[in-house]
Amino acid sequence: MTDQTAIQTQILDAFAFRHATKEFDAARKIPETEFTTILEAARLSPSSFGLEPWQILVVQDHDKRALLEDVAWGANGRMNGSKGQLYTASHFVIFLAHRGQTMRHGSAYLDRHLREVKHFPEEALGGFKGAFAKFQTSDFNIDSDPQITDWSARQAYIALGNMMTAAALLKIDSCPIEGFEMAPVTEILGREFGVDTEALKPAVMAAFGYRASPPRHPQSRRAAEDAIRWI
Ligand SMILES: Cc1cc2nc3c(=O)[nH]c(=O)nc-3n(C[C@H](O)[C@H](O)[C@H](O)COP(=O)(O)O)c2cc1C
Repeated sequence: MTDQTAIQTQILDAFAFRHATKEFDAARKIPETEFTTILEAARLSPSSFGLEPWQILVVQDHDKRALLEDVAWGANGRMNGSKGQLYTASHFVIFLAHRGQTMRHGSAYLDRHLREVKHFPEEALGGFKGAFAKFQTSDFNIDSDPQITDWSARQAYIALGNMMTAAALLKIDSCPIEGFEMAPVTEILGREFGVDTEALKPAVMAAFGYRASPPRHPQSRRAAEDAIRWI
C-alpha cells in the first residue's frame, strides 16, 4: 500500500468509526495528551476572515454538568433510555459563539484581534476592516445581533467537525449536541459558569469519550450521486 492509499484508508475508517454516541463508558477517561490534540484541532481550525468567533468551554465539573440536565434533552439520555452523554462523557464541551458586541465590524475586540493575533501591519488594517464591514453589511447582509451570532456559530461548527474527526482518528467517540433549550442554557451559563452572555451565546455542545456499547444503528447516508452534484 502506498502512503497515500494508507492515509485514505485511515480517513475513511475514522469516518466509518464515528457515530453519534448516546452513552459513554463513564469509567474511561481520554488521556490528557489526546484531548489536548483534539482541542488543537479546534483551535487551529479555519474561520471566516480568521476571526475565530468562538470560545470553547470544557466542562469537567460534574456538578456544573448537572445544572444542564433538565435543559439538555439531547444529552441527558431520557429520549433514548440511556444514561446520556452529559454524565458519562470523559470530556464535555460547549461551543460559545461571539455576538454582535465583539464580532460587529469596528468593534474594539476585532481591532485587538487583528493587531495582537493576526499581527496585521498598521497600513493593512484599514483595508481589511473595510472589506469586513462590506462583507457584513452588504455582501452577506448580517448586521443584526442574531445574524452575527449565527455566523459565528457557523464558524464554530467547523471547529466542532474537526474535533470529532481528530477524535475518531484516535478511536475516541463523540456526539455533537444541539438538543438543548437555548434560553435556559444561556441563563445558566451566565449565572453559574461565568459566561458573559452579552458577548457570547451557546452554539452547540459536544461530548467525547468511549462508547459504552456498539452503535444501535448501522451508519446510513444518501448515495453519493444524491448528495453530490458534479458540473
Ligand atoms: C449539529 C448536530 C447536533 C446534534 N444533536 C444531537 C443531540 O442533541 N443528541 C444526540 O444524541 N445526537 C445529536 N446529533 C447526532 C445526529 O442525530 C447524528 O449525527 C445523525 O443522526 C447521523 O448519525 P451518526 O452521526 O451516528 O452517523 C447531532 C448532530 C449534529 C451534527
